[in-house]
Amino acid sequence: MTECRFDRSAERVREATAVMPGGVSSNFRLGVAPTPLVFERGEGAYLYDIDGNRLIDYYLALGPMVLGHSPAPVIEAARAQLERGLLYGGQSELEYQAATKITEMVPCADRVRFASSGSEAVQLALRLARAATGRRMVVKFEGHYHGWLDSVLWSNATPADQMGPEDDPTPYAASAGQDLVTGESIDVLSWNRPEQVIERLAKGDVAALIMEAAMCNTGGIFPLDGYLEAVREACTKHGTILIFDEVITGFRVGPGGAQGRFGVTPDLATFAKAIANGFSVACVAGRADIMDRLSDGTILHGGTYNAQPMAMAATVATLDELSKQGVYEGMERVGTRLMNGIRDAFADAALPVVVSGFPQIFNVALGLKEPAINYRGMQGVDKAAYRHLTTAMLGHGVRALERGAWFLSAAHTDEIVDDTLAALRAAIETAEPHLAHLRAA
Ligand SMILES: Cc1ncc(COP(=O)(O)O)c(C=O)c1O
Repeated sequence: MTECRFDRSAERVREATAVMPGGVSSNFRLGVAPTPLVFERGEGAYLYDIDGNRLIDYYLALGPMVLGHSPAPVIEAARAQLERGLLYGGQSELEYQAATKITEMVPCADRVRFASSGSEAVQLALRLARAATGRRMVVKFEGHYHGWLDSVLWSNATPADQMGPEDDPTPYAASAGQDLVTGESIDVLSWNRPEQVIERLAKGDVAALIMEAAMCNTGGIFPLDGYLEAVREACTKHGTILIFDEVITGFRVGPGGAQGRFGVTPDLATFAKAIANGFSVACVAGRADIMDRLSDGTILHGGTYNAQPMAMAATVATLDELSKQGVYEGMERVGTRLMNGIRDAFADAALPVVVSGFPQIFNVALGLKEPAINYRGMQGVDKAAYRHLTTAMLGHGVRALERGAWFLSAAHTDEIVDDTLAALRAAIETAEPHLAHLRAA
């Protein structure tokens, strides 16, 4: 069994704090146990760090690397464009190709507007919804994450003692320094409770309802039967724009994202991450009558780096690869094997766990006895115990997110899954002193 140490990473991160807060460029890269890691390269399902470790990667950069690290067709397409110029401040055939491809793949996509990050795409979608409806209020859900900007950074990870009642959650500002006035435009509801949506939208003042159509940032939770349909119906009835935030699910769980899998079409949807396999690309896609409001210049959307040509070349290449016969089916099969193998490993150790979600992005909820239907149901997860487990797994050469999510790529093979499951079983033994209490609970 691989035994990894991370001393050089720890040392470099510590040294880097002299020039960068925490030695990292995103808060989501802090708090990694035993230390944030410093990498040299990535290839397929593997990352190589500066301690000389080869790690099987299920972080996948928090989602983008759907084809794995450094896939040749994407690298070649980007390299070819690199020779032709970096940024034009104008249009390129590549962005038209990318947009056309998205309209072919995504049910709601009559029109596409590119941005550079998921957070930005969400802001554009909300602006479009407010402009289209002339209303201000936005409904979001507990445990759903829509980027780090003030207007939506509410109740994505509310501490248990701040949640308020389930039928009327208290909006919770997730960051110090956040503009709290933005909270006046947000109403937070519990997800998977259709009656809450129906009641709230009936007031007639909600511009947009935004959700992850399947919860991927907190747990791997599917909508209950009929929930998305009920929300769709209420939005249509009360003139609210329905936005699916498909930054994680888009191009990852199927060619049409979560909306394709569930058969419910939003008015607008946001995409990023898997759309370009690691390049900074995001987009809003949606109904022509809403999106075309961007044409006359009355709704402002800018971005110096939007549709950067090299990133667009990568987008076209990524979507072409994903469109090949069997790619999603392959991930579905391998991911299902991995999910089942994880369940078996915990069952053999008599540890309670819920493994749920899509085979391409699922969640391991250690300590949970029954599947959750929303954020409240995830409170039974033993985060500290799971963190000991991911630390032990990392020691055995497998990198999975401390918060429970596992991202799978098309480069993860059966053999890699076997190695992963062997490492997991070893990690369960290593972390036994931190897990034993779960059996008694
Ligand atoms: C569902 C969802 N929306 C929006 C975002 C923000 O995207 P970005 O980090 O590209 O700004 C994320 C990021 O993880 C996300 O998971």
